Amino acid sequence: MHIAHTIAALRHARTTLADGKPGPHLGLVPTMGALHAGHRSLLRRARQECDLVVAFIFVNPLQFAPTEDLARYPRTFEADCRMLEEEGVDVLFAPTPEEMYPNGNNTFIHVTGIEGRLDGASRPGHFTGVATVVAKLFHIVAPTRAYFGQKDAAQVAVLRQMVRDLNFDLELIACPTVRDADGLALSSRNAYLSADERVRALILSRTLQRIASSIAEGTRDAATLRAEAHALLSSEADVVLDYLEIVDPDSLLPVVVANPGTLIAIAAKVGSTRLIDNLLAP
Ligand code: PAF
Repeated sequence: MHIAHTIAALRHARTTLADGKPGPHLGLVPTMGALHAGHRSLLRRARQECDLVVAFIFVNPLQFAPTEDLARYPRTFEADCRMLEEEGVDVLFAPTPEEMYPNGNNTFIHVTGIEGRLDGASRPGHFTGVATVVAKLFHIVAPTRAYFGQKDAAQVAVLRQMVRDLNFDLELIACPTVRDADGLALSSRNAYLSADERVRALILSRTLQRIASSIAEGTRDAATLRAEAHALLSSEADVVLDYLEIVDPDSLLPVVVANPGTLIAIAAKVGSTRLIDNLLAP
């Protein structure tokens, strides 16, 4: 695997390696590192579907508010490289913040409307940071396919809108959430949870499962589903709900009826760790 820390080195590796490949597909897997089995599933899919695979590891300061966990965000570069090697990644692009944001970086991407919904409502500026770094990355790497986890459903919605609005010539692929055997959605932030918090955190996936069961039994009224979910959530001590929303998966606007494909998304603080999870209504 080639490791590029600069944009020039990435572009050089990309051009040299793409020449020898059988087809035109360049798959990009953007991450902030601390890779887990969820990332592995994105890498695998990219490897299956693309001729050249580029992974990106960058803890993007622009998407963290000053009060958030930028400094303590888990960084496991060596283990990450081992996973990337195992999954047959061709190039790792791992720039420094100075390389991505040299002095004089004054251009930011605002996906207006959507960027203020769900996580964007609780984390103002977060999706501007995400959209800006991903737009820069798309320009630098020029992928034909880019792979993201459906666990970050609001991020997927923001980026899909950006791809449409800015005419990026690529396919954005959202891959299913990977879960531990007990249902907890995999996240790099799970590393912050104590054993006790880890158990409490299961309330997120249990709540989503309850909503899915109610839908399967015929309840599609969003207000009824939300009320059921709130009742279940309030049974778990030390879990502070941020949002529980039943929304259109593209606009992230609330719906009245949870039709198949409607996004049911939840965010909550378990101790000091903010976790998110979601499902698409059956
Ligand atoms: O999902 C993430 O890990 C990040 O938000 C992303 C897309 C790599 C941008 O920093």
